Amino acid sequence: MEPDLSPLPGSTFGAVLRIPPDRDTKSAIAAFEAEPGRLNDLLNRAGGPLLFPALHAIAKEPEMLVRLSRLFGPEVEDYRRTLSESHMIHPRHGEIYVLGNRPPSCRQPPAPPDPPRTADGALPVQFPHRRGWHTDQSFRRPPPDISLFYAVKACPKGQGQTLFADGSGAYESLPPHRKGQIGNLAGIHVYPFWGRSEDEVRAGKTPRPLAPHEQPQRQPVVRMHPETGRRALYLCESGQMDWVLGPFAGMEPGPDGEGAALLYELMAHFTQPRFTYAHEWDDGDLIVYDNRCLAHCATWFDAARHERLMWRTTVWGNPGELYAGEDRSWVAEGA
Ligand SMILES: [Fe+2]
Repeated sequence: MEPDLSPLPGSTFGAVLRIPPDRDTKSAIAAFEAEPGRLNDLLNRAGGPLLFPALHAIAKEPEMLVRLSRLFGPEVEDYRRTLSESHMIHPRHGEIYVLGNRPPSCRQPPAPPDPPRTADGALPVQFPHRRGWHTDQSFRRPPPDISLFYAVKACPKGQGQTLFADGSGAYESLPPHRKGQIGNLAGIHVYPFWGRSEDEVRAGKTPRPLAPHEQPQRQPVVRMHPETGRRALYLCESGQMDWVLGPFAGMEPGPDGEGAALLYELMAHFTQPRFTYAHEWDDGDLIVYDNRCLAHCATWFDAARHERLMWRTTVWGNPGELYAGEDRSWVAEGA
């Protein structure tokens, strides 16, 4: 492993990058800025989530999160320009999306899985026992590359974890016939809650009419990472795939079609415990994750008793050759 990196405890992928205790966060960021490309290279070497523990200074100076984000790609999304709800955006930094269970964002955690533990007492991670696996904003073309997720205030350990799944390891372990079947397959992704998720389709909900910039988007099921050249599964499940037209282009659609059967099989494979990592957050933790090769998932916490406050940024601009020259699907005409 790269000298600056150490293994991520409890995980077969990803790494930890510790800022030396004698160095303050701001000067460490300045040192990274003086070597453009180095942090991104370390992320690629980590091969999974890259954890920076104890960056407490960011909570007081959120600008530092934006500076760090700029080191991972050409463009950091400004949520003020991308149709995001204003109460979810940091009041002084439009690049920071605020995920807290208290006002103003009021984002509540998902329900716990049913049953809440596996038969051997572990935290459930595997789909479909665990629901909510996705990659950020896969309903946009081109999709974002990298997300930075920072814990201003974590909830107590044992709840409110973030789960990560290794799309490269999962892809590489597929049998040859399955790799052949999905090599040129496209998944159809759409924004959740517009009547096109699995649960909504099963409930007979009428899908909401979609404007041109809200249309479902096709994405390759197998993505080639533009920097490492590794192939990875690129999929979501019940909530962020389109269960009206998809989940796969060219296969029988709907929740009981042959496409649904394949998606269930692929997602169960993708999220096996051997390809997953559950992060228990501490205040000041920053995790950088690459949406081009990882899926992730939120877990329940006791929101009535605990406050949790997370900040997220998204980095764009290097989705790979497949998307070269494309206009942004999510930008409304005249916006
Ligand atoms: Fe997410």
